[in-house]
Amino acid sequence: MYLTPDEEKLMNGERGSTYQKAIEILVALGDIYGADRLIPIKSAQIAGVSYKTIGDAGLEWISDLKGKVVVPSILNPAGMDLECWRDMKISEEFANKQQEIIRAYEALGVKTECSCTPYTIYDDLVGFGDHIAWSESSAISYANSVIGARTNREGGPSALSAALIGKTPNFGFHLDENRVPVVTIIVEPKLHDSDYGALGYIVGAMIGDKIPIFKIHSHPSKDELKSLGAAMAASGAVALYHVLGITPEFDKFEIPSEKITIERRQIQEVYKSPYNDISLEPDLIAFGCPHSSVPELENLACLLEGKKVKKETWICTSRAIKNRNLALIKRIEKSGAKVFCDTCMVVSPASEKFKLMMVNSGKAHKYAPNLCGVKSVLASTKRCVEMAVSG
Ligand code: F3S
Repeated sequence: MYLTPDEEKLMNGERGSTYQKAIEILVALGDIYGADRLIPIKSAQIAGVSYKTIGDAGLEWISDLKGKVVVPSILNPAGMDLECWRDMKISEEFANKQQEIIRAYEALGVKTECSCTPYTIYDDLVGFGDHIAWSESSAISYANSVIGARTNREGGPSALSAALIGKTPNFGFHLDENRVPVVTIIVEPKLHDSDYGALGYIVGAMIGDKIPIFKIHSHPSKDELKSLGAAMAASGAVALYHVLGITPEFDKFEIPSEKITIERRQIQEVYKSPYNDISLEPDLIAFGCPHSSVPELENLACLLEGKKVKKETWICTSRAIKNRNLALIKRIEKSGAKVFCDTCMVVSPASEKFKLMMVNSGKAHKYAPNLCGVKSVLASTKRCVEMAVSG
């Protein structure tokens, strides 16, 4: 891989071991995947934040780094609400470790906003055609597909390395030739709300990491696309998809001849709860995977208006969205539902004490059993609220 004289200096350790390690990681990846050079990035989004997932070894690795990121960089959700962690019943010990991780990232110049929807928080992070290095799978999918930016599926260390160097190796989704769809997904039924998560849940499992182009009769909102991409990245490894007539790059390509048709009955199948037979009732109703947007919060506020939740109910969003919409948050909290920031029902250990989680997210539905040891059932947003307020 070609390196500029300045990059060679970083490789030789002239700016210290942190930058040397960072560029070594980028060059190693570039060599493995056949990159010709490093290219500048506009922003980085760094996973590996929850103490639940990175533990002491991860904390030590980040704490040992000495340097500053050179592009706007933001964190993935942490293992707890950084302010209201006691309300989540997080232990003091976990909270201290989590705060240490956040401080270690802060010392590197990373913004300590912890969210998987950074594109709803800052305007300067990403735009059409921008090269970026992001590492949360739903954010990657949204950036590549809905915004038309370009990122590979970075791991935490490679995203942090890219943030420190301001560059990423030029391969994979950064190149036009690797953004071409290879399978057409024809969606027969009209979809709405969590149906998109159900669709992603099915399609991801069918196609793995292939790039699909969807033919959908209904017109998905940005939030519905967010939900579709998140679920496909969880049940498969889809990092880029196109939707005919909707996503920004759809008209660049021929329609692939390999076709898969999705019928109504397949979507309905995802909603079927195996727990009805043993009459297990959900004891946690969780929204906000990926983090709730303002329209999603408004919808929840309307659905919860004048009602009281009778089951533990969480709504996860970013702190910036919460702080900018305090009146809206108050309307939601009046129902007894808890709005948590900086974290989510999957990366926080707080959900592990529940038996059955009801979610409106295909991604959370996929991950809750494996990553939290909690059974899960998928339902529409309206049905989730009905369950939350039922006795
Ligand atoms: Fe975000 Fe957590 Fe879901 S990181 S996409 S809310 S699993």
